[in-house]
Amino acid sequence: KEKSIGVFVGSLRKASYNRAVAKYLETLAPENFKMREIDLSGLTMFNQDFDDEGTTPAAWTKFRSEVKALDGCLFVTPEYNRSFPAVLKNALDIASRPYGQNVWDGKPAGIISVSPGGMGGFGANQQLRQPLSFLNLQLLQQPEVYLGHANAFLDENGQITNDSTKAFLQQYLNAFVDWVTFLSEKH
Ligand code: FNR
Repeated sequence: KEKSIGVFVGSLRKASYNRAVAKYLETLAPENFKMREIDLSGLTMFNQDFDDEGTTPAAWTKFRSEVKALDGCLFVTPEYNRSFPAVLKNALDIASRPYGQNVWDGKPAGIISVSPGGMGGFGANQQLRQPLSFLNLQLLQQPEVYLGHANAFLDENGQITNDSTKAFLQQYLNAFVDWVTFLSEKH
């Protein structure tokens, strides 16, 4: 059966290194894996009043139903100030509510962090594990992916120029596909 994988990129900028890596991963997916980025740019900052007062933004409703329909979630995140960006936290919060309607619940998930810095977004990657675990996303633990020096392995068109990085991402994608398949066979 075809699997639908949502890719959540924690950067809104056009030339994002993280988006470039996410786009490369999408090209590695097998036939029956449909990977596509879910746009986070139109999500108004979470405010519980909108749900309580019946003025839920249309973009939230759409986002919640998109997440609900997924068979897996792949988070590709930059590091902002040693944590993951607010755009990702906002997305996590929106689809975790209203109370009792957490649509992340039980979904297989993976994390990749990408940075021009030397530590590969380690802080963002680790901190993201905390809400994902609470929201009951089923996180692939290994291999871990911390991609540092992104400006060295990506060219100005966002293409990966380094064969060892490509091979590593293929290895990761294979593990992620196996993980999603394994968990979905249980249900
Ligand atoms: C950064 N950057 C950054 N990098 C890092 O490795 N650790 C960090 O803590 C931070 N902190 C940080 C804060 C803020 C507000 C910004 C805007 C940037 C640099 C960051 O890695 C760089 O801008 C990347 O290019 C962001 O990822 P995208 O947009 O290329 O995907």
